[in-house]
Amino acid sequence: IDLVCMLVRFLSRRRRRPLFLVLDRFLEQSVAHPDKKFLVFGEESYTYSYTDLQSNKIANALRAQSGYKAGDTVAMFMGNEPSFIFTWLALTKLGSPAALLNHNIRSKSLLHCFNCCKASVLIAASDLKDAVKDVLPSLLEQNVTVLLMAKDSDTTGIQSFSEQVEEATDAPLPRSLRSHVTFKSPAVYIYTSGTTGLPKAAVVNQNRLLTALVILSSNGVKQTDIIYVNLPLYHTAGFLVGLIGSIETGTTIILKRKFSTSQFWDDCRKYNVTVIQYIGEVMRYLCSAPKRDNDKDHKVKLAIGNGIRAEIWREFLNRFGNIQIREFYASTEGNVGFVNYTGKIGAIGRVNFFHKVSVESGKCYDTELDEPVRDANGLCIETRKGEPGLLVSKITDIAPFAGYAQNEEQTERKRLRNVLKKGDLYFNSGDLMSIDEENFIYFQDRVGDTFRWKGENVATTEVSDILTICDCIKEANAYGVQVPGHEGRIGMAAVTLTDGVQFDGSKIYNHVVKCLPSYARPRFIRIQDAVEVTGTFKQIKMKLVEQGFDPGRIHEPLYIIDDRVKSYIPLTAEIYSNIQSGNIQL
Ligand SMILES: *[C@@H]1O[C@H](CO)[C@@H](O)[C@H](O)[C@H]1NC(C)=O
Ligand SMILES: *[C@@H]1O[C@H](CO)[C@@H](O)[C@H](O)[C@H]1NC(C)=O
Ligand SMILES: *[C@@H]1O[C@H](CO)[C@@H](O)[C@H](O)[C@H]1NC(C)=O
Repeated sequence: IDLVCMLVRFLSRRRRRPLFLVLDRFLEQSVAHPDKKFLVFGEESYTYSYTDLQSNKIANALRAQSGYKAGDTVAMFMGNEPSFIFTWLALTKLGSPAALLNHNIRSKSLLHCFNCCKASVLIAASDLKDAVKDVLPSLLEQNVTVLLMAKDSDTTGIQSFSEQVEEATDAPLPRSLRSHVTFKSPAVYIYTSGTTGLPKAAVVNQNRLLTALVILSSNGVKQTDIIYVNLPLYHTAGFLVGLIGSIETGTTIILKRKFSTSQFWDDCRKYNVTVIQYIGEVMRYLCSAPKRDNDKDHKVKLAIGNGIRAEIWREFLNRFGNIQIREFYASTEGNVGFVNYTGKIGAIGRVNFFHKVSVESGKCYDTELDEPVRDANGLCIETRKGEPGLLVSKITDIAPFAGYAQNEEQTERKRLRNVLKKGDLYFNSGDLMSIDEENFIYFQDRVGDTFRWKGENVATTEVSDILTICDCIKEANAYGVQVPGHEGRIGMAAVTLTDGVQFDGSKIYNHVVKCLPSYARPRFIRIQDAVEVTGTFKQIKMKLVEQGFDPGRIHEPLYIIDDRVKSYIPLTAEIYSNIQSGNIQL
């Protein structure tokens, strides 16, 4: 019944003129309860009304910039902090799409991500100044306006923006500035590592943002709830679920710069948190932390997220008490999402009449070719109940696929044609799922050239490309390997050396640290005489993945990254057994 009410509300909002956007919901909330706390960040707290006025100031200061006009795309390069939210709201008031850059990326990847959304302005947090300086010449060459959220800047080409914001008026922004915005307009760009190459900017349009409003409310979250947001705001979970979801419910957000196992429950107690967000890794870290007497002493009643394994789920409930877990699935760019409203352990949701979903070709998914196997008629083969298969979802007017910014080739790769009938069109999620007899859906694995580590997707081709820039490496094949006691897979690379050149561990280390965020760095390197390829010259990964990093099994030279000596050092049997036993943390 709740679902029907939500659908009715969604449809009636869609009919409103002028258009009712997520911003309008925020403005309603700030009129309804101006003095209610919207954001708490450490010892600071900000009301709805303060947030509204502060975002007006940012918007007015931005309008005064000569290199910017309302509607231009602006890239935000910031961590989880109140300014992130104020700035994003300012941009929506100006009708400007916001590109949410991952603040861990640097140099080549940073420039690539910036360029793929055609932004004319970059707004960066003060602590990211060095990363901005690194790419500044290229930005200035393109006449990009570079603004730093700091009182002063000692670098030519980087303007200090905080002073301008403080001096700007907090007058509301005229609606006419955003009159060009439609439901199909890009609202934000969220970066995802797809199957190949550098990250891609998934277009989240205004319509999808509007649908994200219901994620928390449909799970029973109310205005009196307090939500703990510790996942990055530049990703779907933090941004669409935590932030956008809270705007609908009028909930107070406890914003955390990053997830911390040791502070998690203390924060929940201190702020009377009632709703938490998680990814599988978070749940595992919480469960593996030392037990405390007050583990059940908190007010958390709902956990919403994805990627929890059934055994961790049970352990979590035993240890931390009666918390409802709502596992959901939504790919950033995709047109499909599920929520487990019923609480079946392990399941991420249930196929219902809202979703026209089929899970294709489990045993018939070719992991080497990275595509579904087809039958004699060229169509995909549907998996049977219980078998893993590729999740695909029909692209329709109600479930459209907005694609990637400036990247038709990658957009096309996510479209799958001739699935069940000649001429049909589906979105390829890149995730392997299975469906049981009762239509509950379970996440199995990712397919394609990506792996997940510490909640981030890593594109193996990006890692390979970065490695081959090193003089001593001729070819590189990156992949993820499993480590006991960890979710996801840790980065590893099989490389061949340039003829007559020695392996230079410290040079590779410096290069990797400069170019890749820590979660994407290959922790292990395996030296091979030749990189194996398939008949179509695709690199063979599955065999390497299965072989892992055991020096007892692999007779080729193996190295492990060592941050203390800033180099790759030989991976000995002793190091290996310490990793297996958990004495060495990765
Ligand atoms: C940058 O601005 C200068 C001066 O206005 C102009 O000559 C140049 O073409 C611009 N460059 C780009 C890449 O737009
Ligand atoms: C949390 O709740 C308790 C009891 O209701 C209350 O005394 C306390 O002030 C609350 N703390 C915060 C930070 O709101
Ligand atoms: C899914 O629903 C079932 C039925 O309520 C419930 O027992 C289980 O706890 C739920 N799991 C989730 C994920 O809510």
